[in-house]
Amino acid sequence: MQNKKQIYIFAEIIYIMKKILFSALCCLLPLLSESVQAQNPNHQWFEEARFGLFVHFGVSSVLCDGEWVMHTQRIPANDYRKLQTVFNPDKFDAAEWVRTAKDAGMKYITFTSRHHDSFSNWDTRQSDWNIMHTPYGKDIIRQLADECHRQDVKLVLYYSLLDWMRNDYSFTTGRTGQYAGRTEQGDWNSYIAFMKAQLTELLTNYGEIAGIWFDGEWDQLPEENSGPVGHEMSKVDWHFGEIYDLIHRLQPNCMIANNHHLSALPGEDYQAFEKDLPGENTGGGFSSNQSISKHIPLETCETINTAWGYSFRDNSFKSTKQLIHLLVRAAGYGANLLLNVGPQPTGKIQEECLTRLYEIGQWTSAYGQTIYGTTAGFIRPQSWGAVTQKGKTYYIHILDKESDNLTLTFPAKIKSARRFNADVPLVWKQNKKTNEATFSLDTSTDEIDTIIVVEIF
Ligand code: GLC
Repeated sequence: MQNKKQIYIFAEIIYIMKKILFSALCCLLPLLSESVQAQNPNHQWFEEARFGLFVHFGVSSVLCDGEWVMHTQRIPANDYRKLQTVFNPDKFDAAEWVRTAKDAGMKYITFTSRHHDSFSNWDTRQSDWNIMHTPYGKDIIRQLADECHRQDVKLVLYYSLLDWMRNDYSFTTGRTGQYAGRTEQGDWNSYIAFMKAQLTELLTNYGEIAGIWFDGEWDQLPEENSGPVGHEMSKVDWHFGEIYDLIHRLQPNCMIANNHHLSALPGEDYQAFEKDLPGENTGGGFSSNQSISKHIPLETCETINTAWGYSFRDNSFKSTKQLIHLLVRAAGYGANLLLNVGPQPTGKIQEECLTRLYEIGQWTSAYGQTIYGTTAGFIRPQSWGAVTQKGKTYYIHILDKESDNLTLTFPAKIKSARRFNADVPLVWKQNKKTNEATFSLDTSTDEIDTIIVVEIF
């Protein structure tokens, strides 16, 4: 009897120990996989950059109806292919694009090397469906890469995973691209080999490529096709492990992002949020499955009007003020803003975008110090604005003044507080016990952003 009891107690102890071990493992595993994503010190530039230019451009631009035009207008591949005979962006000037980004205060450019329509903007050996076989006949990526290197702007390349043109892409697994008129079932291994060969070209022939930005992961099996695009786990095996390894082997500092709308996967170097500030989930639900990574940098991409690729009927331009607010709020979350332009078929960026970028540049040259190289504030962005910080210096950005006073509880005693870059006195007081501080905003606040710079002890 005594023996039986001992065996029972022993089994109970083993059971409890197993449970503890299992729970410990469950807690550790995400940490281990996140540590795989721990930040590379050579990626510091990205954290400091805070602002980049997204450019959607390619053969689709000819139709002036957004980069999805092949799909939305249900154009069969055989007809779409004819665009190659008329795409002639002879006003494209790489130096001008890069200068425009730089003048706006942007530190990097993310450019569509190949979008969903499969058209390659460079001299690829893997397919004739590329820029060299157009009347233009010049390698756009070569010009852009050379100019970015010359002007010290980083170049990131957008690369579409899914494909609406190639026969080896197993289009039957896709939820878009079904109007292309393809009949073959595809050859997945051939398609993966094609992508690897293209990425190898991009990462060996153009000098430093600061990042690869994947998009279109959300393809899936036909029976899964329900609900809006982009909300579900992909069922396609993209061979991400091999592809990410290849990229990091070719250029160890090349940063990988994937706009898959999921939490970051191992091997990814920054996390992309589409039309949504991290965690806000207000941009149509793209980020409802994304938890914010604590270990890799964040980036939000957004359009100046609505479309990514040039769309001649899209007149819903955001104001300069709205765009600056977006930049500040993104920085308040510790994220970069990747702001998009879709150049016209000639290669020119439309005036409405140029004006806004110029005006943003005026602002960043005066106030950029409160954005670049900062981290997320001690509180999340609020309806009234956002906080960014650099060590013991806090920048309080009042974007939408809600009253004549702003009260905030600081993590420490305030040493000094003043208006940033404005010769206006600031009245403030702090409760010594609670560290709650109140700033008076009743005098000459700024139209766009009233910035208070606070030093703490
Ligand atoms: C979406 C669009 C795609 C665009 C991307 C940019 O995934 O489908 O066309 O390139 O957003 O974030």
